[in-house]
Amino acid sequence: MKVWIGGEIVDGAEARLPVTDHGLLYGDGVFEGIRVYGRGVFRLPDHLRRIGVSARAIGLEIPGGLAALEKVVLETARAYGEPEAYLRLIVTRGDGALGVDPTLCTRPRILCIADRVRLYPEEKLGRGIDMVIVSVRRPAADALDPRVKSLNYLNSVLAKREARLRGADEALLLNAQGRVAEASVANVFAVEGGRLRTPPLVDGALGGITRASVLEIAAAEGIDAREESLGRFDLLGADEVFLTGTGARIVPVATLDGEVIGEAGAHPVCGRLSECFDRFVPSRSVPL
Ligand SMILES: Cc1ncc(COP(=O)(O)O)c(C=O)c1O
Repeated sequence: MKVWIGGEIVDGAEARLPVTDHGLLYGDGVFEGIRVYGRGVFRLPDHLRRIGVSARAIGLEIPGGLAALEKVVLETARAYGEPEAYLRLIVTRGDGALGVDPTLCTRPRILCIADRVRLYPEEKLGRGIDMVIVSVRRPAADALDPRVKSLNYLNSVLAKREARLRGADEALLLNAQGRVAEASVANVFAVEGGRLRTPPLVDGALGGITRASVLEIAAAEGIDAREESLGRFDLLGADEVFLTGTGARIVPVATLDGEVIGEAGAHPVCGRLSECFDRFVPSRSVPL
């Protein structure tokens, strides 16, 4: 692991953070998970735009702006040196007194971690993962807007914990109205009769960059794809369900609440989109 911290890049074990950082104390900050594929950073301008909007939404000024973040990401990825990597770009509120008041924090802190990531057991990726609907709900936008990619991920942590305790690989979160929002850190798609459906952001989904890529690929492939509110019934009745995310990439879901989705082990649309995604990646990557 390599870490960009305080203007230098160090080995993971050497990276140190003051305990007064409000990212640690209150989850006050924003982040991005970014992939390097074949020595190219996938959709870097989109990740920078999203972290910029998240920062603005919580009133966090990024030192040096997005140009500084771009430089940090590229330098960290180059120092890591592997053709494939997972980058975690973080901007915290910085150091401050005990107490939540962010106005007492004078300088936001930028960090970038480069490492590997694996969200699900390798052997599950072909067959599909097991997912359960958890009791934890996605909060409403007026409580904590799920479109802000903040460091406050306890909602996802608790959802994932419940899923793991119940023997599943992943959690599906509903919103307060019982509509499907997303998985703990991935967006959800349902395929029915060759048509793709994914919940709109107002139902509690993050505007995923992999999600946007799949919608773009589907349009180019002539697959009918649109945002639509979904319920548990829609997923159980689907031919296929799959998840998308920077960490997850495109992963089929084999079961929901123990029920097999579609025909066991058959994910033709998901498979086709994954192949298209592999071809799409180089066209949208910033070379290192
Ligand atoms: C809550 C949540 N939803 C969805 C996603 C997927 O978004 P992306 O494809 O941009 O990684 C993430 C990614 O980390 C996430 O944290």
